[in-house]
Amino acid sequence: MKEDRIVQRIYSRIDEIPTLSPILQKIISTVEDSSADARDLTDIITNDISLTSKILKVSNSAYYGFQQKIGSLDRAVVLLGFNMIKSLAMSVGIIKTLPAQDKGSYFSRERLWIHSLAVATVMKHMAETTGRKEDGDALFVAGLLHDIGKVVLDQFFAGEYQQILEETGCLESSSVCEAEIKHFGMDHGDVGSILLKRWNFPGEICDLVAMDHKSDVPEKVNDADVAMLHIADILSKEAGMGVSESITSTEIPESDLAALGIDKNGLASFRDYLTEAKDGIYSFYSSLG
Ligand SMILES: [Fe+2]
Ligand SMILES: [Fe+2]
Repeated sequence: MKEDRIVQRIYSRIDEIPTLSPILQKIISTVEDSSADARDLTDIITNDISLTSKILKVSNSAYYGFQQKIGSLDRAVVLLGFNMIKSLAMSVGIIKTLPAQDKGSYFSRERLWIHSLAVATVMKHMAETTGRKEDGDALFVAGLLHDIGKVVLDQFFAGEYQQILEETGCLESSSVCEAEIKHFGMDHGDVGSILLKRWNFPGEICDLVAMDHKSDVPEKVNDADVAMLHIADILSKEAGMGVSESITSTEIPESDLAALGIDKNGLASFRDYLTEAKDGIYSFYSSLG
């Protein structure tokens, strides 16, 4: 009973978060609508001038490395692909929807989004190199939003969350999740998943985000997706793109490598890929500013 009350507190605060703009809701609904085409998507996005200009800025950033300037959304769709533009619109829209960082915040939002972009980038690459190219864009979105629950906890439970983070002495160790569960009845993966469900994100993305720090994969969730999230998270922290400034090195569980069907060489190639993508990731973030 007491536990229910604790969890209820999270739900009622999440209810206070604004619903997404009608344009973002429409974009999300096209994710599961296989009849929606590029024209539908560009028609929706061009209704929002600021979203359009942000997407064009990101498309022109070093993240994608195109030589020629991309001047229109139609051109961006041709060069980046329909699905990537959809993922970009969702990502850019959501980063902009969440309230800006409060002064008293314990962790840097900038670091959180750079970390998230790094995880998203590696996950998309993992999908492409393990024969699952068609899932790359959904995995990009899941990677980008996997730690969004931290933003919710930081925003609505600032004092309590700060205390937890201070007591555990770290921003992202497994003891933080244990403390979150003890204090809030769930960890930040669950919190993020609840928020995304409320925003009508596809079920697979919500379920995957909930698995951020869990290893018992339920049947409805693809264990290769979970492995990608876990590995991309660790690699990003190793590359200095964690939420905390300190560089951490965590052993990647053999079970995650097996679920993804890769060996140590495969892992090394993901590590190299991220090192090369690093400058682009920073330029992606700065083009959102
Ligand atoms: Fe996390
Ligand atoms: Fe993370």
